[in-house]
Parts: sequence; C-alpha cells; structure tokens
Amino acid sequence: MAIKLLAVSLPLLVLSIAVISTAADEKGQPLITKVCGATEFPDFCTSALKSDPRSSSADVKGLSRIALEFSATKAKEAAGVASKLMQNSSGYVDWSKRTTCFDGYNSTADRIKGEGLKYFEEGNYKKAYQIVNLLTDDIKYCTSFGVPQLVETNTMLSKVISVVKTILHLLL
Ligand SMILES: *[C@@H]1O[C@H](CO)[C@@H](O)[C@H](O)[C@H]1NC(C)=O
Ligand SMILES: *[C@@H]1O[C@H](CO)[C@@H](O)[C@H](O)[C@H]1NC(C)=O
Repeated sequence: MAIKLLAVSLPLLVLSIAVISTAADEKGQPLITKVCGATEFPDFCTSALKSDPRSSSADVKGLSRIALEFSATKAKEAAGVASKLMQNSSGYVDWSKRTTCFDGYNSTADRIKGEGLKYFEEGNYKKAYQIVNLLTDDIKYCTSFGVPQLVETNTMLSKVISVVKTILHLLL
C-alpha cells in the first residue's frame, strides 16, 4: 500500500514543483487554469472550482480547500442519490446493497468535513487526502455489489478524488 502510494505520488510531485514555481503569486482564473491543467480532468476541475465564488481570489491553498470541500459536497450528493434508491428498492437484497453504498458515501462525506478539513488546516495534506481517498474504497465496495443506477455516481466521484489528489499534491 505504501509502496503503491509512493509510486503514484512521485510523478505528481515533479509536476507540482513545475506548476508552483510559476503560480506562487497568482490567483483567480489564471491560477485555476494552471492548477486544473495539472489534473486528469481539467474541464471538470475548472467548473468545480469556479462553482465556488471564493475561487476568484483564491491562492493554491484556497483552491485546495475548495476542492476538498467540493469532495465532501459530492459525496453527500452521492449519498442522496443512493438514499432515494434505497427508498425505492424492490426487495431486501436490493435494499441492503443500496444501503451499503449509501453508508459509505454518507460517512466519508462527514469524515472529509470533519477530520479531512482539520488535517488540511493543520497543513497535513497527506492525511487530508487519505480521508478523501476513503471514497475510493466506498466506490470499490459499492461497485462490487453491482448497482447499475450508481455507476454514473461512482464515475463522478472517481473524478473528484483524482482532481483533489492532484491539487493537494501541489501543497506538499
Ligand atoms: C423505482 O424502481 C422501479 C423498479 O423497481 C423503477 O422502474 C422506477 O423507475 C424507480 N423509481 C425511481 C424514482 O427511481
Ligand atoms: C450519515 O453519517 C453520519 C455520521 O457518520 C451519521 O450520524 C448519520 O446518522 C448518517 N445518516 C444516515 C441517514 O444514516
């Protein structure tokens, strides 16, 4: 696990040094373009950050906080989708699968808002990311049950995780 994480983070660290060196005094739209350009999903990232009015004057740390909060919002939204499905289940098996998906999204959303933001404020960006990355396990677990109505939701959450990871790496 540790070795795998290291292998993933090394190229991102190299990338982040390049971005930070030119972006240190930049804010707002030019910075959003640069930061999101470093992610796997630039358009998704840009619209996510711009949906928060604070992004227009945010520095890299501010954008990271917005991205982190965005991940909690999206996890809660996913919980909302799963919750509606739960209420419309056709039987116990269906209900229990959907409930498991709901519980994962819901509890991780709260952990991001609690522990995740706390670690972020303490400058512990690695730990903050690890909390967001709990969503990866939620997605895997939920996907293993095969809930076709949640495929789109899980794809969207995967994008969120990828974007948050890259942006938090810019602060390391
Ligand atoms: C509820 O479930 C049925 C199938 O069990 C489906 O046809 C219907 O579209 C669902 N309604 C909602 C609101 O998801
Ligand atoms: C969502 O998670 C929170 C914290 O983990 C919990 O207190 C709450 O009861 C959960 N909501 C539902 C509807 O289970």
